[in-house]
Amino acid sequence: MTELGKPAAGEATISDIHAREVLDSRGNPTLSVNVSVSNGAFAEASVPSGASTGAHEAIELRDGDAKRYGGKGVLHAVENVNGLIRTALVGTPVDQQRTIDGRLFELDGTPNKAKLGANALLGVSLASAHAAARSHGKELFSYLGGSSAVTLPVPMMNVINGGKHAEGALQFQECMIVPLGAPSLREAVRYGAEVFHQLGKLLKKKGFATTVGDEGGFAPPLRHIDEALGFIMDAIKSAGYKPGTDVALALDPAASEFYSGGKYQAIEGEAALSASGLIDLYERLCSQFPIVSIEDGLAEDDWDGWKELTARLGERLQLVGDDLFVTNVKFLKRGIDEGVANAILVKVNQIGTLSETIDCVRMAQTDEYATVISHRSGETGDTSIADIAVGLNAGQIKTGSLSRSDRVEKYNRLMAIEEMLGSAAKYPGAAVFARASRHAGL
Ligand code: PGA
Ligand code: ZN
Repeated sequence: MTELGKPAAGEATISDIHAREVLDSRGNPTLSVNVSVSNGAFAEASVPSGASTGAHEAIELRDGDAKRYGGKGVLHAVENVNGLIRTALVGTPVDQQRTIDGRLFELDGTPNKAKLGANALLGVSLASAHAAARSHGKELFSYLGGSSAVTLPVPMMNVINGGKHAEGALQFQECMIVPLGAPSLREAVRYGAEVFHQLGKLLKKKGFATTVGDEGGFAPPLRHIDEALGFIMDAIKSAGYKPGTDVALALDPAASEFYSGGKYQAIEGEAALSASGLIDLYERLCSQFPIVSIEDGLAEDDWDGWKELTARLGERLQLVGDDLFVTNVKFLKRGIDEGVANAILVKVNQIGTLSETIDCVRMAQTDEYATVISHRSGETGDTSIADIAVGLNAGQIKTGSLSRSDRVEKYNRLMAIEEMLGSAAKYPGAAVFARASRHAGL
């Protein structure tokens, strides 16, 4: 780009942007956005959607027209892309991601993307990045990260779904397996799939249905978290792996969802717990099971509780802020300043543009907070997060279970990236969790 902001002669510029309404993995509408470039390059991206959304997330614009998709249509967001945004961005150099995202931010003009919709902005932001990568003849991960983008993320795989992702199942939203002892991402995927299938067999043997929840994990109607973790431990062993060494455990209770009146209804039918009581439960679980990470262990606005949680468990565990930080540097900064949590979940649609997502990851990395790039419970076949995880050297990814194409496509893309990287590829395994412990002063 020249100093006057006009594209230099021969520079690849955005020549067209087009959005349409498509369906996500739950059958709800979302956006798919195409970006065309003056040099003939073309790319598409589609936008995910959460169910247990954080209160401080950027706004997903929905039409509210009860006659279409129960009010969940996204035609207004589509119009925003095809009208205002298209007009403003056509002619912009496609590889000026900061300029593109800055323009999107300005056009919206609200602190939470409420005017044009974070879904509209994100579709354009991601599709532009893909189009720019194509323009340069690069894969997205290497366009984003250059030659240092060689680290495959350690996955947290959600094999038992509960909470808002599986009605009538466990109160805790996610029980995950972490194949940290695998020598490569490809092997990590195999470990995960083998444990997943063993888990299905064990559940079936005990008379449970093996239907799956929103993120492709089983959703048995278990009441107590101990039962769920017990099943997973047996599955790890019967798949021939050593719990803790080959495959560890991680939890996302999504505690904001069962927090009310200052108390946590963590286990159905039992007395609600105070924050301290719930931390006692986590402490016991960690002494009985090889848990390496707990996400959203307490509610998004319970900062005092989070301080206690970090003080009591932060030295031995990764404590991930999802609803707490909502991929927003403002909330992450507060966490860093107050010594709350030691890791952040990164969801592109919580903030709405790729540049802001990158800023958040960089802030976390500077302060040695671990970073986990994450899907949403409502997904499409879009695999951008796999490239983002490698491109930003995030170290970890959370992208669901080992079933359903909306989940496994991301693993498949990661395996392809690993193959492309060849001998340069690194799988950090258990080392990513050691970093969380170091941050906590170990
Ligand atoms: P969501 O759940 O996409 O429904 O918000 C994912 C999570 O809480 O991590
Ligand atoms: Zn979460």
